Amino acid sequence: MTFEEFYGRYYVKMLKAQKRLQDMVYNYEKQVNKEDINPVMYVSTRIKQPDSMLAKLKQRGFEQTLDAALHDVFDAIGLRIICSFVSDVYDLVSWLHEQNEIEIIQEKDYFAYPKPNGYRSYHVLLRIRKGIGKDLYAEIQVRTIAIDCWASLEHQIKYKKKLPNEHMLQEELKRCADEIASTDLSMQVIRDILRNAENL
Ligand code: GTP
Ligand code: MG
Repeated sequence: MTFEEFYGRYYVKMLKAQKRLQDMVYNYEKQVNKEDINPVMYVSTRIKQPDSMLAKLKQRGFEQTLDAALHDVFDAIGLRIICSFVSDVYDLVSWLHEQNEIEIIQEKDYFAYPKPNGYRSYHVLLRIRKGIGKDLYAEIQVRTIAIDCWASLEHQIKYKKKLPNEHMLQEELKRCADEIASTDLSMQVIRDILRNAENL
């Protein structure tokens, strides 16, 4: 099924809303100190594939309709923001809180509370308050580049049906996630020291 077939006339509206959220993040980049390391490395976007949307609705016990896709789950529109440092993630999230055009409806801080598999990220579910895309929901995932690298590998492993030593691979991945978190922390300390030295 194509995007247009499932999302119908909402598809174009969703793309516009996605673009608008992306522009909002670019405005953030423009606002922050240009001499500093850019807090946002890149932004990727996606509209949820009709097939995975239908599967998610079914799994959650909702009707497999466009209405349910737009109102019962909140991640039909998705943005992923890749930051340099962990503090950039938190700074960006607090900035999102100040934006009048969106209403944040739920947050999941997997940095503070990592998933058992080691997954870390900051997820923000929001509703667009006005203008293009009014009342559409979106999910913004904010994470560091190191963690993003881990998540893409973990994602592949999760969807491989047959894997040798699956348990061992999961344990190893968890260890990598913890090491990455520890490295992110060390990088943060180095960055903070450099920053403070500039201000001396
Ligand atoms: P869905 O996973 O979308 O059904 O929602 P949920 O309620 O479980 O929300 P959660 O915030 O846990 O996950 C939302 C999205 O975050 C997923 O669709 C993935 O893109 C990403 N994500 C969550 N957990 C993991 C994980 O363990 N590994 C990876 N690679 N990505 C994850
Ligand atoms: Mg999930």
